[in-house]
Amino acid sequence: MKKWYIVIFGLVFGLLGFLESSIVELECPDHFPEPLYDFSKNELRDANILLGKTLFYDPILSIDGTISCASCHSPYHAFAHTDHDLSHGIDDIIGIRNAPPLFNLAWQNTFMWDGAISHLDMQSLAPMTSPSEMGNNLMNIIASLEASKKYKLLFFESYGDSTITGQRLLLAMSQFQLTLVSGNSKYDRIKQSQDTFTVQEKKGYELYKVNCSSCHTEPLFINEDFASNGLSVDSTLMDFGKGGVTMIKEDSLMFKVPSLRNLAYTKPYMHDGRFEKLREVLNHYTDEVQVYDFPGSDNRISVNVDLSSNEKSDILAFLRILNDEEFVFNKEHRER
Ligand code: HEC
Ligand code: HEC
Repeated sequence: MKKWYIVIFGLVFGLLGFLESSIVELECPDHFPEPLYDFSKNELRDANILLGKTLFYDPILSIDGTISCASCHSPYHAFAHTDHDLSHGIDDIIGIRNAPPLFNLAWQNTFMWDGAISHLDMQSLAPMTSPSEMGNNLMNIIASLEASKKYKLLFFESYGDSTITGQRLLLAMSQFQLTLVSGNSKYDRIKQSQDTFTVQEKKGYELYKVNCSSCHTEPLFINEDFASNGLSVDSTLMDFGKGGVTMIKEDSLMFKVPSLRNLAYTKPYMHDGRFEKLREVLNHYTDEVQVYDFPGSDNRISVNVDLSSNEKSDILAFLRILNDEEFVFNKEHRER
């Protein structure tokens, strides 16, 4: 008898949660372009965002219950990982790449340093099943979630019934990650005429426009494309980036162009985390650019960039105003 009460109570509670959960509009500044993500297929809702967030912080997704998404994508570092150059997964297995920060994902449709994934809704499957990250499989994850009363209720509130499927899980993971919008740095406030450049920031902005903007394009500071920025090939990792995915010679050593936002929180830099400091990154662009002779390689940096030490300081001053404290310290994005 008592059991029935609990089931009915659970159903009513879940249904109320589902009915109460309202559709959420993605908040983004006016100077941002239209998102690339098709929200009509996965409308943002409070309950689904909460489900995605709960999953993001839960080591239940990994085979041994030790690693969550946040183990590698820390909310205190714009969802990057800063204590290692290469990522560490279950059993402390070292991966081959530096974990990138996560924000403004709604404006992207290629993911991973080599572009191996072309839709956010498919992205989460990769770390869940990668032997060097969470080492799990979808069947096993669904079974663990089904055994949890908390998740039964969260799925009910999100989808109107408590069935847990791989698709529902992946769509919810996207929901939370789509809400990670970084658009309130000093740069953004300047774009909205609410603030102004200092003299040095303005000089840095002009130098950025000449030397960096073809790849790190405003206002998101990405260009949804791949390039080589002249890094030398790491002789132990032998990572050929996009070329390793497409097996096309011209794509060798091409990596996804990362954003320049929030760099103060996301060190180390580059796909293999080889640089700890932004000045080292600039020294790379002025002194260490490697030229590889691949046919069709027209959008890569082919010569060292000409910048004086003062000009580097100006660029660094500009990069500092791309840090978005409001985003990094947003408690809504953290585990509660
Ligand atoms: C063991 C560390 C680790 C874990 C755990 C992990 N990631 Fe990642 N993540 C990475 C690394 C490293 C990359 C870059 C991989 C590559 O380029 O091959 C990445 C890439 C990504 C990207 C692509 C970002 C971009 O700009 O292209 C997204 C999105 C992402 N992870 C989300 C997640 C989610 C969601 C989870 C949990 C289901 C998760 N990650 C778990 C290390 C991790
Ligand atoms: C030809 C395109 C191109 C140009 C021009 C370019 N970059 Fe890059 N940048 C890239 C690519 C590609 C990467 C990632 C490379 C990798 O990890 O293999 C990158 C990485 C970076 C990173 C590391 C970001 C991170 O999250 O790890 C910084 C910082 C950076 N660039 C700053 C600059 C600055 C400053 C300029 C101008 C002086 C500039 N870039 C010009 C393509 C470019």
